Amino acid sequence: MSRTFETVGVVGLGTMGAGIAEVFARAGLRVVGVEVDAQALERGRGHVERSTGRAVSRGRLDEAGRQAILGRIAFTGSLDDLRDADLVVEAIPEVMEYKHALFTDLDRVCRPDAVLATNTSSLSVTAVAAATERPGRVVGMHFFNPAPVMKLVEVVRTVVTGEGVAEDVAELARRIGKTPVAVGDRAGFVVNRLLLGYLNHAATLLELGVATRDDIDTAMRLGAGFPMGPFALLDLIGLDVSHEVCEVLFQESRDRVHAPAPILRELVTAGLLGRKSGRGFHTHD
Ligand code: CAA
Repeated sequence: MSRTFETVGVVGLGTMGAGIAEVFARAGLRVVGVEVDAQALERGRGHVERSTGRAVSRGRLDEAGRQAILGRIAFTGSLDDLRDADLVVEAIPEVMEYKHALFTDLDRVCRPDAVLATNTSSLSVTAVAAATERPGRVVGMHFFNPAPVMKLVEVVRTVVTGEGVAEDVAELARRIGKTPVAVGDRAGFVVNRLLLGYLNHAATLLELGVATRDDIDTAMRLGAGFPMGPFALLDLIGLDVSHEVCEVLFQESRDRVHAPAPILRELVTAGLLGRKSGRGFHTHD
């Protein structure tokens, strides 16, 4: 029989983690949201409050519904509060050492039958699983930005994933209103493997002076039907994340299309990270 998940943990409440916590709470699950320090925890709470507040102001949710969603999320600074979770999704920064340390801790704190998932965009899920004593119960559960809106979840299975585990996670994705696709543990999975090459190439075109930033954005919106142009999307994803994913993809694929464009590195070095810092390729309010 397939497994049902009722209490889920989300560790890391940045843009992705807070969005993921909101998605679970909207679907009626109990959520334990964990952040390392009080400031980051408050930022995460603020993110969910603003996102659900926007839904109320757009008439998609009433205030009682919003309060019910917020009431289903317990915000905490302690991993120990994950002891009753059926599943935990990790959404911390893309640094393997951090993920290793966290999964070692999660393995200790969580019930032995709990599933541990990583929202990594490009790192090896197999390597994350190897940090635990339960590699068969570790998968990738990769959401897309903005998590409350984007319908896809890539469910990543490794060579050691136990029978039925990825299927249970895919069923959970359906229950929260997403469409799962099954992918293998290769850098970038499907979406980022295809998307980041395109975004990086857009940055190269800009550097070559083929067209202006705004004309490239307009061209891809109106000529290819994309909801946003590549520079608007790079800013949404975050230039630091985009640069990091390109680096990892380049290491694995050795395809020049993934070799990070110098302008991407330059902007990241200057602290211009996109929407989250107020400025990237575009300036944001
Ligand atoms: N959080 C919650 N809801 C949001 C939101 C956010 N950050 N941004 C937009 N929305 C909601 C709005 O409230 C609105 O909902 P209603 O229609 O019900 O009112 C809806 O989304 C549409 O928003 P807007 O009308 O403001 O704007 P839009 O129509 O231009 O859509 C968009 C915005 C959904 C972001 C759209 O432009 C889009 O799909 N862009 C492409 C995004 C994309 O490709 N994401 C994947 C990035 S790759 C990735 O994430 C993987 C990785 O690992 C790096």
